[in-house]
Amino acid sequence: MVDDRPGLVVERLDGAGGVGEVQRWHRLALEGRAATAAPPDGPFDGIVLRQPRGTVTLIMLTSLLGARLAPGGQLLVGGANDEGARSMARHLSELFGQVEVVATRRHCRVVAARRPRADLRGELEGWSLAVGAEVAGVSLSWRSWPPLFAHDRLDAGTKMLLESLPPLEGAVLDFACGAGVVGQFLLRRGDPIELTLSDVDPLALHAAHHNVPGVPAQLADGLPPGGPWQHIVSNPPLHLGKDEHRGTLAALAAGAPERLRRDGSLWLVVQGSTPVRRALQGAFTTVERVAHSPSYAVWRATGIPRARRRDRATGIPRARRRDR
Ligand SMILES: C[S@@+](CC[C@H](N)C(=O)[O-])C[C@H]1O[C@@H](n2cnc3c(N)ncnc32)[C@H](O)[C@@H]1O
Repeated sequence: MVDDRPGLVVERLDGAGGVGEVQRWHRLALEGRAATAAPPDGPFDGIVLRQPRGTVTLIMLTSLLGARLAPGGQLLVGGANDEGARSMARHLSELFGQVEVVATRRHCRVVAARRPRADLRGELEGWSLAVGAEVAGVSLSWRSWPPLFAHDRLDAGTKMLLESLPPLEGAVLDFACGAGVVGQFLLRRGDPIELTLSDVDPLALHAAHHNVPGVPAQLADGLPPGGPWQHIVSNPPLHLGKDEHRGTLAALAAGAPERLRRDGSLWLVVQGSTPVRRALQGAFTTVERVAHSPSYAVWRATGIPRARRRDRATGIPRARRRDR
């Protein structure tokens, strides 16, 4: 059972009777859920998948899952028409042969496939691709996977962030690191940093282990524990699924001062239309837009108000220390 939302499907299956043991696999560690890069081994008699975003991701996940079906087992995939569910049956039939649409209701559909005779690419490593780019004289090369952000190219916003970053020193957090491109850039440029990576997606960290070897990486929803960092750098998430979601960006802006050294800085790239100045001004004393194009803007926030600084002796933010 593959499900990144609350356990509605599991509850339904539990209530349906006649269903044996249900195992749940989460792709993302949202709200502290246990998540892994690849699905558990199986074999399973039945697998239920909520349609993921993107055709290549659909094909990758259904291949990984289809390879985990027991003989005669069935894979059910459900999604909404505005997420591309109408073309799901066509894509799956290329992998599974015969595919059946078993339900269509309220602009949604569910399709069913059985384990095909032909082998499916069931291992994560079979789905990686090599990507490369040259930025500010630094040669980058990394492995990526279809579900990852900008999986087959360097994102234009990330590129603008890299081109804007001056040489950094000290402890640096690459927050929402994806495949680890930002961290790789800083290390290959020769910045004297102690780097930490973090992301909510275990597949991102799997990629980052290849791309930025030997660097600690934390699986966390939002800012990871730790610090204080001299710099936090990020191309933060602005979407959850297909919906716009600014919660992680707001939490990053509000939480960063307590994780930074008092002379530290937060560097962000966001879409040009994203209203981020006010959130940053609520948390830092100095906020500058250091680069922009019609599509993206790079922001630097520095100056941590006294109440949000960590106490040198205890490491606890002063405001919280007073609350105790
Ligand atoms: C815009 S991408 C940036 C990836 C990478 N830094 C780059 O520039 O190519 C945003 C990343 O945020 C991660 N993410 C989404 N929600 C998150 C959360 N709540 N906490 C931490 N990371 C999150 C995603 O998995 C994704 O890798």
